[in-house]
Amino acid sequence: MNDMKLIEMAVKAREKAYAPYSEFKVGAALLAVGGKVYTGCNIENAAYSPSNCAERTAFFKAVSEGERDFEAIAVVGGKDTPGFCTPCGVCRQVMAEFCNPEKFRIILMDNKGGTITYLLEELLPSGFKL
Ligand code: THU
Repeated sequence: MNDMKLIEMAVKAREKAYAPYSEFKVGAALLAVGGKVYTGCNIENAAYSPSNCAERTAFFKAVSEGERDFEAIAVVGGKDTPGFCTPCGVCRQVMAEFCNPEKFRIILMDNKGGTITYLLEELLPSGFKL
């Protein structure tokens, strides 16, 4: 599984986004150690706070299937605005629960096809851990 293929899977997952309130559609593709990929999209709710981000949808699908070790996640999303869809703080914290911050990669693509890759430790320095 290469990074471009993972991005393509995130683009496909974005088609399933349920975002009638923000119209900000996001897709994610999470690569587990062992090679299996779990996709996710954002799922909004009329009461707003029950909404779930694409990244957490992918993580919760994977963990509920027994996965605990992850290599990377690709995230694509937005309206027609430029810029990368960087994961929100809550999703970064969920990633930190299961991933090594020095190794887990977050691969982003903007709406012009530009890509950037971060390590989790760059996006969540000094993240909370018990
Ligand atoms: N959203 C995600 O799914 N992932 C992100 O990384 C940022 C934001 C969703 C939440 C909400 O449904 C919409 O995008 C606008 O915030």
